[in-house]
Amino acid sequence: MNHIRGSLIYEGKAKRVFECDNPERVLIEFKNDATAFNAKKRAEIAGKGRLNCKISTALFELLELNGISTHFLALQSETLMIADKVNVIPLEVVIRNIATGSLCRETPINQGTILNPPLLDFYYKDDELGDPILTEERLKLLNLISTSHLKEIEKVTRSVNKILKEYFDALDLLLVDFKLEFGLNSSGKLVIADEISPDNCRFWDKKNSDPKDRILDKDRFRQDLGGVIDAYEEILKRIEKDTSKAT
Ligand code: TMP
Repeated sequence: MNHIRGSLIYEGKAKRVFECDNPERVLIEFKNDATAFNAKKRAEIAGKGRLNCKISTALFELLELNGISTHFLALQSETLMIADKVNVIPLEVVIRNIATGSLCRETPINQGTILNPPLLDFYYKDDELGDPILTEERLKLLNLISTSHLKEIEKVTRSVNKILKEYFDALDLLLVDFKLEFGLNSSGKLVIADEISPDNCRFWDKKNSDPKDRILDKDRFRQDLGGVIDAYEEILKRIEKDTSKAT
């Protein structure tokens, strides 16, 4: 079901979105560009686009199998995904199982604290404003989506967390936290959009207790730890090992 690539609709930091011959679909190209701290830090990491496209595909397929709706339709090439055309809701929905990152920078909560129940935070997606965290009342005030969609987002995010946490646990990986984005497709259905990859998830290797060596996600880039691509490769390797087990 390959599609003809049309004009560029949108270019983000890590992906480009193109029109295609079906008006209800888009082609999403995963780039090698890496950014952090609202694009103040930038680099080009060869192979990242291919790895994130493959990892996202595997995870979207896993979620779909578990009854979660995503924008994913199929892979067109190693770096090109066919997806539903969606109106993206400008929210970054972050769920955390273990405290680290901004939670520990902004509160006295200690690194590594287990968060049970997982902590769900909403951020307003706007680089110029620095993606500010939203209180429940500010979220309502912004009136970005209906209350029922908001409740659905929270429910879906918690379900996704449960599915992915168990899945990665079996691959000897701790799913520390991750960010989801949502959109409404042409039928008005709420679906998960964007990507699910080491760019927007934190993974710690259960087989490694060293606080730096165990990091297998974009924190290696954010913290200048090196070995970014090796870490992403390791995530894909464990996912593919799991897939071959199932078939
Ligand atoms: P944080 O601890 O920096 O708030 O990040 C929480 C999670 O969200 C982590 O898995 C990385 C992801 N994330 C993004 O995907 N995009 C972003 O812009 C930020 C700040 C975090």
